[in-house]
Amino acid sequence: MTLPELKNRQSISLFDNRTSNVVHRPRRLRATPAIRAMVRETELNTRDFIYPLFVRHGSGRSEIRSMPGVYQLSVAESIREAEAAAKSGVNAVILFGIPKEKDPIGLENFAEDGIVQQSIRAIKKEIPEMVVVTDVCLCEYTDHGHCGILNTGEHFHAGLPEGYVLNDPTLDVLAKVAISHAECGADIVAPSGMMDGMVAAIRDGLDFAGYENLPILSYAVKYASSFYGPFRDAAEGAPKFGDRKSHQMDPANVREALREAAIDVAEGADMLMVKPALAYLDVIRVVKDAFPEMPMAAYNVSGEYSMIKAAAANGWVDEQKVTLETLTAIKRAGADLIITYHALDAARWLK
Ligand code: PBG
Repeated sequence: MTLPELKNRQSISLFDNRTSNVVHRPRRLRATPAIRAMVRETELNTRDFIYPLFVRHGSGRSEIRSMPGVYQLSVAESIREAEAAAKSGVNAVILFGIPKEKDPIGLENFAEDGIVQQSIRAIKKEIPEMVVVTDVCLCEYTDHGHCGILNTGEHFHAGLPEGYVLNDPTLDVLAKVAISHAECGADIVAPSGMMDGMVAAIRDGLDFAGYENLPILSYAVKYASSFYGPFRDAAEGAPKFGDRKSHQMDPANVREALREAAIDVAEGADMLMVKPALAYLDVIRVVKDAFPEMPMAAYNVSGEYSMIKAAAANGWVDEQKVTLETLTAIKRAGADLIITYHALDAARWLK
């Protein structure tokens, strides 16, 4: 075939009689931004986000070295940050407290004038519509940095290792903490310590104290993850010795996630959480499919945040695009809610 002949042909196919043998053309629905938008399956919304705040005594704010853009806040600054959240369409915050003093039990955790207690009251007073979630755990408050009362001294229990986190004595403290948050006006309590029976103990305590309407968001499936590293700078809650493997889950396990979730549902959890998010997208999916009736949160943890920040600071990834892609992936995996330090940035980018 000569070149002029070729140019005169109706079809650009080089083969005679061929119109097309391509049957499937998914690209038809990717051709323009408008069509892509029509068939998009997952849409991020600022209402999906829960924004973590670290509250400490004193005044002003101090940036956390390993988490650029995240601060330890005074009570007044926590109001300011919650206002910024509200303004950008993020309607929930989760509070973490850094106490003035630490002790073996973590007494400030349920003190009337504890740092989180002050911050809950202040935020609820200034921004009543803000949903204030509180983290209920011991590790930020104990001098040993563990999530419960330790097997040592007067609590020593023969048959368990020295320094083991004692389960049932810890439950009483968790219930006290939850009640004290409720008394200050918290909207949701979120136990994060992976103690057996923590949801039931907190539910009993809240009901007994007259807070039967207060929901529990359980960190039901929480792994012993190295992605919490920067958080332990932020909350100053690193264990002074050992690790959290006697209560947090083994990253190798997913069937066990179903067991943990089922127990928490049976104990009366109102919402479930998988944590961390990114290395556990399969776990989010499995838990969501097993409990489709339960609202599901995923915690996009500190290490996940800091990795993007560090790479973006080096110019290696586009922070905005990578962040939104990450958050979309977490939602696509099955999360209804995402606890994320990117919340305010993401809200701005979504607008
Ligand atoms: C425990 C708690 C931790 C995080 C949230 N709640 C730390 C831990 O279990 O060691 C980690 C969150 C993050 O890394 O962003 N109170």
